[in-house]
Amino acid sequence: MRLERFASKEDLYARAVDIIVSTKNEGATTFGLATGGTMEPLYSKICETDIDFTNCISFNLDEYVGLSAKHEQSYAYYMYKHLFHNKPFKESYLPNGLAHNPAEEMASYESLLQQHPLDFQLLGIGQNGHIGFNEPGTSFDSLTHLVTLEESTRQANARFFDSIDDVPTQAFTMGIQSIMRAKCILLIAVGEAKRDVLERVLASEYTEDVPASVLTKHPNIIILTDLQKEENE
Ligand code: GLP
Repeated sequence: MRLERFASKEDLYARAVDIIVSTKNEGATTFGLATGGTMEPLYSKICETDIDFTNCISFNLDEYVGLSAKHEQSYAYYMYKHLFHNKPFKESYLPNGLAHNPAEEMASYESLLQQHPLDFQLLGIGQNGHIGFNEPGTSFDSLTHLVTLEESTRQANARFFDSIDDVPTQAFTMGIQSIMRAKCILLIAVGEAKRDVLERVLASEYTEDVPASVLTKHPNIIILTDLQKEENE
């Protein structure tokens, strides 16, 4: 596990772009992508580069159940708005939030993932330690599945919606095992709200109560943060 701390967000995101560009230059063709406020500056910087993903495939971590790809708060819409409109991939996959048969949707997403092993996975982190939408208590062996979102997760994401009542209660997410299969993982934790959970991960706790703690066992993970060590550490 490699941790890099940055004094400025500008430098952090520049480093994240460098990692993605060099991963691609080294031959990566299958990219796992993430959403959330943390990724917006990253995608904006990627759009300023001349990186070309048109021979690459992307998979997103998750999608809200009940939102169509045209809904402004769906992750499909987010990806188009922040990245794909400018940097299209040969193929881009997200779970279908309107799938009539959730079990079939999850099985087919997982099977696509297994057919196209991820060379790279980008991750943010929830304040409760979730990765994708794998909430605390999710099995480290989980594959793509349907989750009921924690109230705290709905509240954290309510800022993107008109009101908390509009935040879906369920989501499809790649499982923890699906994420851990990626050859290389880049986790970005930005802002004070992530301090406690990042500390728990860095303390090498390994517990399903903190889903991101599984990452301590990944052979090739880089964590970028703008959080500095506290004085008494
Ligand atoms: C969401 C997403 C996660 C994301 C996390 C953090 O719930 N499903 O993939 O990492 O929240 O989001 P933010 O970057 O907005 O703090």
